[in-house]
Amino acid sequence: MKPNTLLDLLGDHRVHSGESLAQQLGVSRTAVWKQIRKVVAEGIEVKTIRGQGYQLVTALDLLDQRKIVENLAKESAERVELVVLKEVDSTNAEVARKLLAPGSAMPVVLADAQTEGRGRRGRNWSSPKGQNLYMSMGLTLRGGFEGLSGLSLVLGVAVVRALNALGVTGAGLKWPNDLYAGGKKFGGILVEIQGELQEGQVQVIAGLGINVHMTEATDVDQPWTSLARYWPDHAWVRNELAASVINEVAAVMEQFENGGFSAFRDEWQGHDIFLGQPLSAKDGTLSGIGGGVDVGGNYQLDTATGRVSVMAGDISLRVSV
Ligand code: BTN
Repeated sequence: MKPNTLLDLLGDHRVHSGESLAQQLGVSRTAVWKQIRKVVAEGIEVKTIRGQGYQLVTALDLLDQRKIVENLAKESAERVELVVLKEVDSTNAEVARKLLAPGSAMPVVLADAQTEGRGRRGRNWSSPKGQNLYMSMGLTLRGGFEGLSGLSLVLGVAVVRALNALGVTGAGLKWPNDLYAGGKKFGGILVEIQGELQEGQVQVIAGLGINVHMTEATDVDQPWTSLARYWPDHAWVRNELAASVINEVAAVMEQFENGGFSAFRDEWQGHDIFLGQPLSAKDGTLSGIGGGVDVGGNYQLDTATGRVSVMAGDISLRVSV
């Protein structure tokens, strides 16, 4: 991604005269004015103060490929091929457009905004510019389709580890794909199958959406929160968060490919928000107490007639009231 120099200069939130911006950018004052109009059209608020200059109003935390790479562990930097975009329809769709050659680096696409961000079950995923983390990875699973059920659980573990690495604890996991804090969703995982390369090798696209700074969303139809809302004392920087998530995903994928989900089961259970809760599944036809996941990543309900495993897929588990 090209450095956004005008925004870099305005990023200190001080007033900058047109003349000093022009000088520092090496362009005319008219060109500065045109650039200001462009960023305003992109939804970034810049105040024009007569006789003084311009001041950035919107808090900015833009993605910067260089800063993400700086924060990557050496092993992950070697394993991933990182692309950072200002805007895209969907980062999952962008990974799908890339040809994933087996054995090549893991493609990771991040964007500052998505125009058609997608969630599970055909839902839209709210993706305002510069607010949240929208990230997708192309993964090759050697374990075939069987390994898929554990994948989103393992990615959830990676996100919790990434937050821990930044000094933030207390995130919860809601089977099978949601990230929770304080009873509200702050992120989700969308795993889409790209195809089978050859028997036993499946290519998937794993998309991760994490609400970071978002303070309002009219298009979200469930209780939600964001990292900044739930952990306001942490100074959230998306480049650091992105690097931490990439580091942890690269590490867990290696272990998952070799040993499957079972090695992550206890850690996943430690963050299970359903454990011990009265739950219902299959449109209310099955109810029981949350008993954690089995080795295959299916959710277990302790029912009146014994323990029943619920498969990942389109069955939704709810806390019964
Ligand atoms: C869910 O419904 O909980 C899953 C949401 C997944 C959203 C992410 S944002 C990055 C990636 N690109 C998309 O279009 N969706 C996923």
